Amino acid sequence: MIVDCDPGHDDAVALIVAARHAELLGVTTVAGNAPITATTRNARIILDMIGSTVPLHQGAERPLVAPPRHAEYVHGESGLDGAELLEPSGPADSTNAVEFIIETCRKTEGVWLVPTGPLTNIALALRAAPDLAKRIAGISLMGGGTFGNRSAAAEFNIWADPEAAAMVFDYGGPLKMCGLDVTHRLQATPERIAKVRALPGHMAAVLADLFDFFSKVYVSRHDNMRGGAVHDPCAVMVLTHPELFTARPHHVTVETSGALTTGMTLIDMRGLIERLAPNCDVTWEVDADAAFSVIVDSIAAFSR
Ligand code: RIB
Ligand code: CA
Repeated sequence: MIVDCDPGHDDAVALIVAARHAELLGVTTVAGNAPITATTRNARIILDMIGSTVPLHQGAERPLVAPPRHAEYVHGESGLDGAELLEPSGPADSTNAVEFIIETCRKTEGVWLVPTGPLTNIALALRAAPDLAKRIAGISLMGGGTFGNRSAAAEFNIWADPEAAAMVFDYGGPLKMCGLDVTHRLQATPERIAKVRALPGHMAAVLADLFDFFSKVYVSRHDNMRGGAVHDPCAVMVLTHPELFTARPHHVTVETSGALTTGMTLIDMRGLIERLAPNCDVTWEVDADAAFSVIVDSIAAFSR
């Protein structure tokens, strides 16, 4: 898989799970939670922490059409606030994330693209290389849902670049979506964070600090949440640990011109016999304890 991300606390955890449980062919970055320089710097810091030398390529610094908008209110100014982090070992290997995605998918069979931020890079790759739609194994994304977080209707990744998201949902190949309906069920509760903090090694302590920061934001902003919704690892684990999730096929489209609903994923859940052909496997449930154990074990594997 190639993880296309905007680290981001939960992106960082997704990278760790992907490095532990998948053949991680490379990491590409996109502007989203923070500007592209920050998300790329953070991706390098995480890869350094786990001792990974997989290719890292910087991608789009702004959406296709929408203005650049970020989420410092969740992830902090740096995009990864809340822990003492080492300086990155160096810059990305290139600023050609889209080329890297295209070349890798053309020369390697069975690649899953796993975007966990705005879908700008993925849309640009599909537009520049339409053959990818039939070459890749599929796209497993974190985004969307039957409710939003950046607005009542729109989840941040889709909202940040709705035109790109519309292109991805229309691309025609295998598509898995982990939206807020499932990710809000995977919360970094105090008990779960304590399991991370109990692990040996400095990295585990850093991840526990990052979880604490992330969870404080969520608990302070939401009714009845006991921890941060660990969104992005779900897009990885539906591929590496599918037995932990429940999904159903639906027709999903993205609103790009709604006065109030731009960035909304419209999931057709009508019980019609004559229904729109499904284009997306929508994930609805997760075995949260088991999924968080995968996260803890992945951190343990790299912590030193
Ligand atoms: O809405 C949650 C998504 O937006 C996650 O991917 C988080 O990292 C942010 O990018
Ligand atoms: Ca993200």
